[in-house]
Amino acid sequence: MIARPAAVFDSGVGGLSVAREIRHALPSEHLLYFADTAFCPYGDRTLHEVRARTLSAARHLESRGAKALVVACNTASGAALELLRETLSIPVIGLEPALKPAVAASRNGRVGVMATSGTVRSDRFRRLVENYAGDRHVVAQPCPGLADMVEDGLLEGDALAARLDELTEPLRAAGVDTVVLGCTHYVFVRDAIARALGPGVELVDSGPAIARQTRRVLAERGMLEEAGEGSIRFLTTGDPRDVGPVMERLWGAPLVAEHVDVPTAELPEAWRTPPPAAAAR
Ligand code: DGL
Repeated sequence: MIARPAAVFDSGVGGLSVAREIRHALPSEHLLYFADTAFCPYGDRTLHEVRARTLSAARHLESRGAKALVVACNTASGAALELLRETLSIPVIGLEPALKPAVAASRNGRVGVMATSGTVRSDRFRRLVENYAGDRHVVAQPCPGLADMVEDGLLEGDALAARLDELTEPLRAAGVDTVVLGCTHYVFVRDAIARALGPGVELVDSGPAIARQTRRVLAERGMLEEAGEGSIRFLTTGDPRDVGPVMERLWGAPLVAEHVDVPTAELPEAWRTPPPAAAAR
């Protein structure tokens, strides 16, 4: 019998930071990584667009036999997790900025969150802050353009340092001692972010927790592969000649990126949002 893969989905290459943790924690699993590169970044898209693309990708992965879906994208999780859980028949594991552990780790009670504009304005993020911030001061910093730099393979250098200097200024001014990397892309520029924030600031991301959660969900359903060598395939809606080399660099091993066309699905009536001008952009 051919083992069913666990799918890992992101708008682009950022979710590879999560796939890496899953591969490490669950080496016998067969993974199917999906980058919706042709529609990346999601962070600047409308709620409607992010929902529609996330649903389209998820249905595509389910139709390829995925046994579970890991939404390795904070923006897509913030916009569409409930929609996916309502629509798909496979378990869906979502991601949210690691605010809870960051609040617990902070010594001075000032916590920063770097995330996409879409994540910062989402209801899910608002609820996260309401539930976990307590009396801590949370500074949420949208980071337009940062995921694009990672997509372009710009992982170091002056242009990145200059952009990070601007983006982290409000966090430095607020004196935060802990910062959540609330977008899976940012994990790949962790060192540059740490340099921009200055010494003594701890960075927290959700990757390891998602790998543990994936194990729990698969084990509960008797779907966990525990023997044999796992594998990973890489799919992109973009041009593999551009995306492949960046993926390979981030993954740290030779790989083949395969192109897939995934048309945008209609959203179920109840999930349609007002036209773009009125939607929460
Ligand atoms: N990697 C995605 C996240 O975790 C978003 C990047 C984007 O498409 O804007 O939020």
